[in-house]
Amino acid sequence: MDMIGFRIKPEMKLGVAVSATQIEGGDRNNSWYDWYRKGKIKDNSSPERANRHYELFREDTDLLKETLIQTYRFGIEWSRIEPKPGEFRQDVLNRYREEISLLTEAGILPLLTLHHFTNPLWFEEMGGFENPDSVPIFLRFTEKVVSSFGDLVSEYITVNEPNVYSVGGFFFGNWPPGKKSFRSVLKVYRHLTECHVKAYELIHNIRKNKGYHDTKVGFAHHMRVFEPKIPNNPLHRLYANCSEYLFQDVICKAFMTGVCEFPLKKPKDIKPGKYYDFIGLNYYSRSTVSRFGDGVKGNVPVNDLGWEIYPQGILECAKKLYNQYSAPVYITENGTCDNEDKFRSRFIYEHLKVLCESNLPVHRYYHWCFLDNFEWLEGESARFGIVHVDFETQKRTVKKSGYFYREIIRNGGVSEEMARECLNEEYKINDPKEKIIGGAWS
Ligand code: BGC
Repeated sequence: MDMIGFRIKPEMKLGVAVSATQIEGGDRNNSWYDWYRKGKIKDNSSPERANRHYELFREDTDLLKETLIQTYRFGIEWSRIEPKPGEFRQDVLNRYREEISLLTEAGILPLLTLHHFTNPLWFEEMGGFENPDSVPIFLRFTEKVVSSFGDLVSEYITVNEPNVYSVGGFFFGNWPPGKKSFRSVLKVYRHLTECHVKAYELIHNIRKNKGYHDTKVGFAHHMRVFEPKIPNNPLHRLYANCSEYLFQDVICKAFMTGVCEFPLKKPKDIKPGKYYDFIGLNYYSRSTVSRFGDGVKGNVPVNDLGWEIYPQGILECAKKLYNQYSAPVYITENGTCDNEDKFRSRFIYEHLKVLCESNLPVHRYYHWCFLDNFEWLEGESARFGIVHVDFETQKRTVKKSGYFYREIIRNGGVSEEMARECLNEEYKINDPKEKIIGGAWS
């Protein structure tokens, strides 16, 4: 019998990931609050509530310690820090500084995300990343953040999932700002590429000038496996290849190397180069496609949102990136919607196992998510956390999967006994007819 237990790679740190808008609450000055106000959230919940983490960050940091989390990927809310163009709030910066200090004092390594889907309203109103002025404005914000926290934070993600952000907001139009134009997607891709490449250089320079030489900068790339519904159907293959190319490959290459291939236009004053210190991968699922959209095969395990659970895919995507870019791999997100925590431990086990048994240099694994939170269009109804949150009372309770994850960290691996136990968890199986669930790839 195969060994069912496994060891965590010696170079690998285990963490959790969160984003500002999804957990903080208390802010109305951003594009997702506006989206809620327009009635777009399925369960009508508002990001103004979320986890009230902006106030409860001390307790939440205690919970991170209790669960033995080694590294924490988190975001900061741009609209809070810069509520009006060029006006920065020192009290807000101080509040984030206090949180980051608590993390570092506890020995938890911070990984800071600068942009995770949400814009200040004033920025959105000037056309957001469609407007070429977005680039200097984003860099001004980056400079403020890195000069404020650069002594405490050495690792940065510039932009989270530029593809999901652009396609949801500018192609499918179900995310803010609700546009449906391929030309707009291309503009946004171009300006985001410029933001990333220049922020990469800026962050390195700011920290180098202060005498720090351990800076690591990258972006979090959303990848899924695209599979043709009927493998030898030429049209299905075309859709799978085009989806992979347009949604994943082109934007990844532009961010990583500054090289913009068709249909992207080359951004101004960007030279080809190496604009990453790690490969950041967010992986959730596989799509089976017969057109543009998101399909799920029949008879496969699925989560509570109907997304296929396909653990092998995390390795397929990581390998593809590694073969092309050859750098330490950070799994910047991986997780699942499991409202009753019935199969999350097994999900964690299976995804970690394929990574740990591979020969890839995987240096980080961030489970998405720490707390159940505001899950964008799904609102509070889709639970991804290893910690349960009662949104009414804001009570946090570590789930069974949270304890399972803590045991993995404590033991540096999964024992045969732990493995056997989590393998008793059962996934739901999709109905036998393949269905297209459509919408953005997220
Ligand atoms: C995003 C997260 C989101 C998660 C689950 C990722 O695409 O970065 O913000 O909550 O997927 O949908």
